[in-house]
Amino acid sequence: MPRLLFVCLGNICRSPAGENVMNHLLEREGLSDQFEVDSAGTAGYHIGNPPDLRMTKAAKARGIAMRGKARQVQPADFAEFDWIFAMDRSNHADLMAVRNRCASPTARLIHFCDLVEKHDATEVPDPYYGGPEGFETVLDLLEDGCSVFLRKWRSGTLD
Ligand code: 4NP
Repeated sequence: MPRLLFVCLGNICRSPAGENVMNHLLEREGLSDQFEVDSAGTAGYHIGNPPDLRMTKAAKARGIAMRGKARQVQPADFAEFDWIFAMDRSNHADLMAVRNRCASPTARLIHFCDLVEKHDATEVPDPYYGGPEGFETVLDLLEDGCSVFLRKWRSGTLD
């Protein structure tokens, strides 16, 4: 069973949105029991907190319920997950340092935007200090990349 971990900085905006967008698509496609999906933050500022209300509202408007509470990524995550999706370059760099502290890392660490097809973005931009449009951009990118991931998984073309 593929285990997927979405990672951003705080684990209250982008990565929980990634987790919940992916779960939403999995439910829609009847694949929920075939994947495990989680999210985490590279920082510990918001440990235990629910997703940001602005992210929750934006997701709800698209019919996506936001569940979960923030946790910090751990070296062991690199042994427990198959795919780790970094939302931006800074998350990716921080994750490489976390991976170095895992005795036997097996997860594939990728830039989430490598999956995206309908947008030019190379990062999922941090929406925390910006306006409402930032949360829409996050969801647009996540819906795009998550659908691509599932399409490639179904056709056995994930590389
Ligand atoms: P996230 O957004 O990484 O998408 O969850 C942020 C959440 C909190 C902070 C920064 C980004 N912060 O500085 O507290």
